[in-house]
Amino acid sequence: MRFQFALTLQAIWTGMCNAAMQHYPAAWGHYDVCKSQVYSDEGLTWDYMACQPEAADMTQFLKVTLDPPNITCGDPPETYCALENPYMCNNECDASTEELAHPPQLMFDIEGRNPTTFWQSTTWKKYPKALLVNITLSWNKTIELTDDIVITFESGRPEQMVLEKSLDYGRTWQPYQFYATDCLDAFTMEPKTVQDLSQHTLLDIICTEDYSRGYVWKYDKTVRFEIKDRFALFAGPRLHNMASLYGQLDTTKNLRDFFTITDLRIRLLRPATGATMVDESNLSRYFYAISDIKVQGRCKCNLHANSCVFDKEKLSCECEHNTTGPDCGRCKRSYQGRAWSAGSYLPIPKGTANICVPNNIGPVIRPNVSSLGVANRKEVAPQVALSTAPSVHAANSKRGRSSGSRASSPDDTAAFLLPTPRHVCFC
Ligand SMILES: *[C@@H]1O[C@H](CO)[C@@H](O)[C@H](O)[C@H]1NC(C)=O
Ligand SMILES: *[C@@H]1O[C@H](CO)[C@@H](O)[C@H](O)[C@H]1NC(C)=O
Ligand SMILES: *[C@@H]1O[C@H](CO)[C@@H](O)[C@H](O)[C@H]1NC(C)=O
Ligand SMILES: *[C@@H]1O[C@H](CO)[C@@H](O)[C@H](O)[C@H]1NC(C)=O
Ligand SMILES: *[C@@H]1O[C@H](CO)[C@@H](O)[C@H](O)[C@H]1NC(C)=O
Ligand SMILES: *[C@@H]1O[C@H](CO)[C@@H](O)[C@H](O)[C@H]1NC(C)=O
Repeated sequence: MRFQFALTLQAIWTGMCNAAMQHYPAAWGHYDVCKSQVYSDEGLTWDYMACQPEAADMTQFLKVTLDPPNITCGDPPETYCALENPYMCNNECDASTEELAHPPQLMFDIEGRNPTTFWQSTTWKKYPKALLVNITLSWNKTIELTDDIVITFESGRPEQMVLEKSLDYGRTWQPYQFYATDCLDAFTMEPKTVQDLSQHTLLDIICTEDYSRGYVWKYDKTVRFEIKDRFALFAGPRLHNMASLYGQLDTTKNLRDFFTITDLRIRLLRPATGATMVDESNLSRYFYAISDIKVQGRCKCNLHANSCVFDKEKLSCECEHNTTGPDCGRCKRSYQGRAWSAGSYLPIPKGTANICVPNNIGPVIRPNVSSLGVANRKEVAPQVALSTAPSVHAANSKRGRSSGSRASSPDDTAAFLLPTPRHVCFC
């Protein structure tokens, strides 16, 4: 099966170009076209641009793994208590009956069904031994998050939980955020919220009590990892100034990496008890149940592809600009005339394609491909774009340096230093 979720636009974008520019600034930052034909002195030629796939619901493309593997309820069948009424303990989970089974896939099915479908763990029969579950989501592809991660619990929200990420296909893991009813007690961390973060502390890993406290299961069902609030630190509260965010992502590798993942792991460490004391006579009240997980993002293609395909259970970028690899991370074999480099969001709004050029710039090849791109950009892009860019760049690279050095300073214990690339768009 071949599923194409992004528009493959190879628009012939000639005279329309200037008209499109008038939508500026609303039009900036779409980066949905990798190349377009333009008229120049030499006739019809190609103009190459930085491009990226559209953001999509990434839960359609993942593999989910549970640890321990037999932690899902229902094998053998067991009874558990209703949340509304812990004295009603005749609900049944039975893996062998479809209506009573709660397999992991139900975290990713369509929401809005009645009754709600959800994954559920076994109950806390082994109390006081901790009830630990890892839910690992793997894409086998680097993806860039573009919106909040939202986990909806059908049980009470866990009293202790960690969201972790991997950037190297699950070999190493780093925490993304800690969640607890009492951060000091659970993780010896001061409780914070995303509102406490600034541009300089954006990469700090915090523990928050926002999604565990106030146990009113009916109304407070979600646990979030706030991507948009973090973007807003650069792009403004309503994400008006995406130029600032893009400029920052372009110049600060740590920041790009922060929003980039190959895997996510939800570590459930302690279920909701709704009280200070665990009722040992009724341990069937305690379990985890998740009805939905939202992960919005896009394939990371290093700004060299505007589409990403899911083929043979695998996501991969459809690389342009004579790049290749799952992330368009290298030049094609006969196009290694200069070192590969990622495309750039700057100058806004079309960025810089940084195409791969042929090995021998011989007589057959079109005149100087790299300068051609630049020449065309001058013709096509109005001055406003060109004149905006340098100031954005300068302002951001200054900030880039300061946040970069902060992130590596020794007292920044929670700072996030990760291997690997790249950017994000929120459109
Ligand atoms: C799951 O498997 C582990 C190890 O094989 C075993 O110790 C445990 O009792 C099992 N749990 C359940 C609920 O079957
Ligand atoms: C879950 O993952 C962590 C590391 O991310 C690991 O230490 C732990 O053993 C895993 N398994 C369980 C059941 O917690
Ligand atoms: C991940 O993708 C690579 C190709 O990029 C493939 O060789 C490998 O088998 C995949 N791994 C899994 C676990 O699917
Ligand atoms: C839970 O507690 C209630 C009230 O104490 C009791 O009637 C019920 O049998 C208990 N259920 C289980 C499964 O222990
Ligand atoms: C890449 O290579 C193909 C031929 O293999 C060529 O048609 C194309 O114009 C080249 N350049 C870019 C930037 O795609
Ligand atoms: C390509 O253009 C650049 C910039 O205009 C110039 O420095 C370079 O010498 C040109 N290369 C070739 C092979 O013409």
